[in-house]
Amino acid sequence: MHAEDAPLATIAETHGTPCYVYSKKALTETFQRFETGLQNVDHLICFAVKANPNLGVLSVFAKLGAGFDIVSGGELARVIAAGGDPKKVVFSGVGKTAEEMRDALIAGIFCFNVESQSELVRLNQVAGEMGKVAPVSLRVNPNVDAKTHPYISTGLKNNKFGVAFEDAVAVYQQAAAMDNIDIHGVDCHIGSQITEVSPFIDALDRILSLVDQLEAENITVSHIDVGGGIGITYDDETPPAFDAYTQAILEKLNQKKVKLLFEPGRALVGNAGVLLTKVEYLKPTDSKNFAIVDAAMNDLMRPALYDAYHNIVAATPRIGETTNYEIVGPICETGDFLGHDRALNLAEGDLLVIESAGAYAMSMASNYNSRAKAAEIIVDGAQVHVVREREKISDLFTTEKRLP
Ligand code: LLP
Repeated sequence: MHAEDAPLATIAETHGTPCYVYSKKALTETFQRFETGLQNVDHLICFAVKANPNLGVLSVFAKLGAGFDIVSGGELARVIAAGGDPKKVVFSGVGKTAEEMRDALIAGIFCFNVESQSELVRLNQVAGEMGKVAPVSLRVNPNVDAKTHPYISTGLKNNKFGVAFEDAVAVYQQAAAMDNIDIHGVDCHIGSQITEVSPFIDALDRILSLVDQLEAENITVSHIDVGGGIGITYDDETPPAFDAYTQAILEKLNQKKVKLLFEPGRALVGNAGVLLTKVEYLKPTDSKNFAIVDAAMNDLMRPALYDAYHNIVAATPRIGETTNYEIVGPICETGDFLGHDRALNLAEGDLLVIESAGAYAMSMASNYNSRAKAAEIIVDGAQVHVVREREKISDLFTTEKRLP
């Protein structure tokens, strides 16, 4: 198996495992595919940094002219370090600190996606102290069911996100009366790994009715941010094609004169990366056959956290009979699994490829069990760029101290 022109086995030999490998071509082509349906439309695609904040990945999108959706001061710093344009940044998140607001105002970001009335009051105050005016959208919670995993559904009434639809007009009126707030848009984001178009259209329908209500109150918005959330194929899911999704949105907009913002994360990177891991031990027991690999839930948390499925294949498949394996890591938790019941023909030392590992994979990695974080690589043709060195054991406790 190759990433572009680079054999995965050679990458694993040279750089070790576990190791994330991304394809620059896949990143680029996926971004361009997202943009094709938007040729004649005023738009900005803001890559959701949380899906994959590696500077190498961000730099690929920055060169393609992407904007970025951030949720922390750390993500803003990464975007700037990667060569991203702060003027194309939207700042989402329910808990922005005053310091994060200041940093974003200094950087001159495109828009704050404000998620509550209290946040609006604080932003007005922080901007006032700096003699600045903050560009604002309200993230409105449209109360639609995204039909996805409950942990990643965000657009329902009982979620912590956004301003309740019923309160939105009143909060916009408050914003309009504030000296250091400038209303630019309206924003929503209903969840992640959504595999149907209809929840997006239901949400947009509500947003458009809000825009009408605002216009009646003499409040105009210059952009609508439809959020992210479009799903990918991990197993047998059939998410809408990008052009079907953007076309449905454009139809619903019905030529309304607004700039259109998108915040895709997973859809741009999820299938552009894999996690390489080596089989350390095969351990047959009475009830199960375990393949113990050198990657674990600290490297890829999605299976443990959401019971998420990632396809797992051998880099060099063996001919012959397969066995059903539990693919597990070395961490001391029963929840430390990467895949259940995978039919593979394995020997100790084999290299496995965990697919669809470009999104919410390395970005959710931890040091649990004092495991150093994996290396990250971007392949460009035959060139192999290490975009994150493997963490050293000594890195793990450089900020810690013994008691005197
Ligand atoms: N915009 C906002 C405000 C978000 O909260 C998110 C994701 C996105 C955009 C991007 O959503 P996407 O296009 O990637 O679906 N860790 C979970 C996913 C959490 C998503 C959080 N918010 C997972 O591994 O499935």
